[in-house]
Amino acid sequence: MLAGKRILLIIGGGIAAYKTPDLIRRLRERGAEVTPVLTRAAEEFVTPLTIGAVAGVAPHRDLFDLTTEAEMGHIQLSRSADLIVVAPATADLMAKMAQGLANDLASTLLLATDTPVLIAPAMNVRMWNHPATQRNIATLKGDGVGFVGPEVGNMACGEHGPGRMSEPLGIVAAVEQALANGPLKGKHILVTSGPTHEPIDPVRYIANRSSGAQGTAIAAALAALGADVTFVTGPADVPPPAGVRVVAVQTAREMLEAVQAALPADAAVMAAAVADWRVASASDRKLKKTRDGMPALEFAENPDILAQVSQMATGRPGLVVGFAAETNDVVENATAKGKRKGCDWIMANDVSPVTGIMGGSENAVILISDAGAEEWERMGKVDVAKRLADRIAAALV
Ligand code: C5P
Repeated sequence: MLAGKRILLIIGGGIAAYKTPDLIRRLRERGAEVTPVLTRAAEEFVTPLTIGAVAGVAPHRDLFDLTTEAEMGHIQLSRSADLIVVAPATADLMAKMAQGLANDLASTLLLATDTPVLIAPAMNVRMWNHPATQRNIATLKGDGVGFVGPEVGNMACGEHGPGRMSEPLGIVAAVEQALANGPLKGKHILVTSGPTHEPIDPVRYIANRSSGAQGTAIAAALAALGADVTFVTGPADVPPPAGVRVVAVQTAREMLEAVQAALPADAAVMAAAVADWRVASASDRKLKKTRDGMPALEFAENPDILAQVSQMATGRPGLVVGFAAETNDVVENATAKGKRKGCDWIMANDVSPVTGIMGGSENAVILISDAGAEEWERMGKVDVAKRLADRIAAALV
């Protein structure tokens, strides 16, 4: 699977480093060429001799190694790989990556590259859960860094929870996925997802019941087929998928701006449940109860992002997919909506409360296109996403 692939493996300084000789062995068994890099702290856990012996090449260890700089240089080193893998990715290394620090060989390589990066975090559960690490995770995901793990389990420090590094075979699977030559390789696809929040005042907002589950699954399925995905998401209940570029927004107007900034794209899938209206002039102070009765909220119409993208005069994505959440006359209403907005396909579904679809894990979709209405059996949102991604791949070739 990995024949001829060049992997730059950066080994961070955590106890999970003891698994990396095995990881190197497994990668090489599959034909990959592994160039190891050890941080100074990593050498406390695993020796350069061990790593060099299993990799078949001495590890790089020092930013200011004159021989290495003369032969190749750290810039060249970081660019000559097909994939950079960081395992274990410690809290410290992740913080450096998120901040763009470059004060040792590992962090400099990570900053000096535009090669895809996959990290396998490993740290104590409290370090993982700390808001600082969580912020860094969000930043790294937004930068398009892929994650494998961490797993939940017992740790070397005696605690239990998320923070264990994935096992070598799990990391190998993620490497294979990252390097897969999917049918959407080279295609840029924009996905909107989640609800939007429209402020009433600084502490209140209008929202809807969208969880973001379907849009998230679609972004993941497109990325799994090799697409370069920009994922514009409102405040969703589910975390964004790995391996996509995340742009987090709150309001419909912010979503429109993010979508415009992300174009051009080969395809756009608008799965977000965008609020149709916003409060015309949201108060910049908290509204107070008064004796004079309730505040009267005046509404203004939000921009229709799907319609705007569908009707672009120049630079329109080749395929625009909209969603139609309906509670009655699903096919008729959705078909009319698709025509009105000008999108190519509509994924229509019945979101009456009895269906449990809005916020649930399943979906029953009718795909409406020029070819007519095609009813898909009820299935998990992940399966809906995979089927849609396959259809998009077939349409874009
Ligand atoms: O008009 P309605 O909200 O039912 O249309 C649903 C479709 O339009 C979805 O694909 C949704 O993402 C998109 N939409 C949008 N901007 C809006 C409203 C809906 O992109 N303001």
